[in-house]
Amino acid sequence: QSLRVGLIPADGIGHEVIPAARDALLALGSSIPKPQFVDLLAGFDLFTRTGEALPEETVQALTNDCDCALFGAVSSPSQKVAGYTSPIVALRKKLDLYANIRPVSSVSEIPGQPPKVDLMVVRENTECLYVKQETMTTGEHGKEARATRLITERASRRIGKMAFEMALLRPKKQVTIIHKSNVLSVTDGLFRETVRGVPKLPEVAGKYDSVTIAEQIVDSAVYRLFREPEIFDVMVAPNLYGDILSDAAAALVGSLGLVPSVNAGDKFVMGEPVHGSAPDIAGKNIANPIAAIRSAALMLRHLGYPDGADRIDKAVDEVLRGDPLALTPDLGGKGTTKAVTDAILKLI
Ligand code: NAI
Ligand code: MG
Repeated sequence: QSLRVGLIPADGIGHEVIPAARDALLALGSSIPKPQFVDLLAGFDLFTRTGEALPEETVQALTNDCDCALFGAVSSPSQKVAGYTSPIVALRKKLDLYANIRPVSSVSEIPGQPPKVDLMVVRENTECLYVKQETMTTGEHGKEARATRLITERASRRIGKMAFEMALLRPKKQVTIIHKSNVLSVTDGLFRETVRGVPKLPEVAGKYDSVTIAEQIVDSAVYRLFREPEIFDVMVAPNLYGDILSDAAAALVGSLGLVPSVNAGDKFVMGEPVHGSAPDIAGKNIANPIAAIRSAALMLRHLGYPDGADRIDKAVDEVLRGDPLALTPDLGGKGTTKAVTDAILKLI
């Protein structure tokens, strides 16, 4: 038995951190099925060389030859470039990766004690304002721009289920629904009602009885996230609120170089560090590999290998608790990508 892992470093520091994540999987030895890596192409660099950001071979290989994947980061130009669409956005669609799952936790000062921040944002990945149906008209008082916001029962139900599944795996077992249904009573109302209804669905009968449900209006959720992050466990949100909340939550733990994510569907899971391609530090061997390494662990957890995931996460925590000067410069240290990776691999 083997675990087939697609590797898509894409652009910039993706080429430095994805190999680190690959090596972390290899270091687990026989505690997971033997990983088989499939190197795949995508990204803006590729687009400038070949005119294609996401070759069909990459999509085919992921669909037919891989159980999961690790994605680095893409550089996206801020001006529109003819013919270019972001490969990560396209992959989420093509592989139906409807959930973006982002755990944000600080390292416990004392091993065994709960960390101060330990939460997870579960963001709906396919609809809300990101359906990108925008129009511009001219009215009596000048230009009028409109955007359609789509919330469906189907997407809300499946993201709700994902959130309850995630909560079952966590000690606190709490799901907080993030919404603004006091103002947007139709769209956010549907999201809130549908997620609330998930535990009562016949097909999950009783499964989520141990999970408590809370809810929070999105603006006060941000306020409380900064004041008292410890009140949150799993936060489930429509696409736009989830996008903003998950970056805000990442700020609570110091560096983008620490925060992992997975894009998950029912049939496929893709790990992806939250950071971008970091062109300012690319090629210098100083990128923090931890977000990518933790993304590999999160991917394993999702695939049902919690022991392997725990071993990676413990090794990372131990390195983070160790000599601060040995860490990468984003955390104030003088360490290199390679040295931090090697320290983690040794502990795994
Ligand atoms: P960024 O995340 O690439 O970098 C922001 C800052 O954080 C930079 O100073 C960078 O050096 C630092 N940083 C990021 N990751 C780090 C790591 N692992 N270790 C140490 N420092 C790290 O975001 P930015 O600069 O806004 O975007 C750069 C490019 O990345 C753009 O083309 C953007 O479109 C793309 N991007 C791609 C994402 C993705 O692939 N999902 C997400 C965010 C940005
Ligand atoms: Mg974002």
